[in-house]
Amino acid sequence: MALPGKVSIVDVGPRDGLQNEKQMIPADVKVELVDRLADAGFRNIEVTSFVSPKWVPQMADAAEVMARIRRKPGVVYSVLTPNMKGFEGALAARADEIVVFGAASEAFSQKNINCSIAESVERFRPVAEAAHRHGMRVRGAISVALGCPYQGEVTPSAVAYVAQRMKDIGVDDIGVADTIGVGTPEKTKRAMEAVLAIYDIRAVSGHFHDTYGMAAANVYACLEMGIATFDTSVAGLGGCPYAKGATGNVATEDVLYLLDGLGIDTGIDFAKVVATGQWISRFLDRKAHSRAGNAVAAKAAA
Ligand code: HMG
Ligand code: MG
Repeated sequence: MALPGKVSIVDVGPRDGLQNEKQMIPADVKVELVDRLADAGFRNIEVTSFVSPKWVPQMADAAEVMARIRRKPGVVYSVLTPNMKGFEGALAARADEIVVFGAASEAFSQKNINCSIAESVERFRPVAEAAHRHGMRVRGAISVALGCPYQGEVTPSAVAYVAQRMKDIGVDDIGVADTIGVGTPEKTKRAMEAVLAIYDIRAVSGHFHDTYGMAAANVYACLEMGIATFDTSVAGLGGCPYAKGATGNVATEDVLYLLDGLGIDTGIDFAKVVATGQWISRFLDRKAHSRAGNAVAAKAAA
């Protein structure tokens, strides 16, 4: 199959990235990060999560951040909502799209959202219905699709089971997430094939954490299958608070470099993303987790 001519990138750095930071990040910095990403040309930015502040304290300022971002027309500002309470927060904050997040392993579901897979889907049902009533799109994420920190191996049929349940309750788009970054290209393809039996390819995305350095290879494996939407994180920020030791998402800069090398259009300004990745990493007082971003920055400094 020919590679896609165009790819959509959702930058999840402000949410998946910052949710995992130990130091409390001021809302000012979160707002600036989102605004910089909008300015760089992203059409979808995952801004924050309307989750319990006891579970994820870093996202406690979700309403404030959403209220203060400079909305750019045409940009979808998406947020995570695990239940109706989260949905009400998202609605009041005028989110454009919501994300419900389930898991392909029971153990991870319990640790992350404190309920079973089946219970989680029942919680998402009214959320998806309410979102559709308000004209919002609903994205679903399937965590630990390529391996679980508690259970180990996760089968493609377990991924398909969650995808089918999400489809049944009306989830529009589905993301296959390698929460702990253990996947390799063949494993990625098998999980994706399972989901493609349920969802149209235009509704399927990949979300790869880069713990073992395989995320860019997994993106390429998806491109070979014709999948054309990916979540990435500027400067490779992030990790999941309930997946200890897992590093951030694949760096947006690295995926943009890969796509550019393949002649695939994203509509995103690579130089602006590199500058944003270097800026947020300076704020966090560490080197960006992006090989491409750091290479470009080093060349510019030389
Ligand atoms: P629970 O304790 O079972 O919920 O948590 P509960 O309904 O019993 O409520 C307990 C308390 O939380 C109550 O407050 C509720 O009001 C409050 P209290 O009476 O004790 O003061 N509460 C809320 N507050 C604000 N917003 C809400 C909300 N819901 C309840 N939405 C719950 C269940 C789902 C709420 C909890 O487990 C939770 O918030 N988990 C969040 C986990 C999370 O955010 N994880 C990281 C994001 S997922 C991720 O990173 C993976 C992803 O990137 C893909 C991948 O890589 O795998 C997407
Ligand atoms: Mg994630």
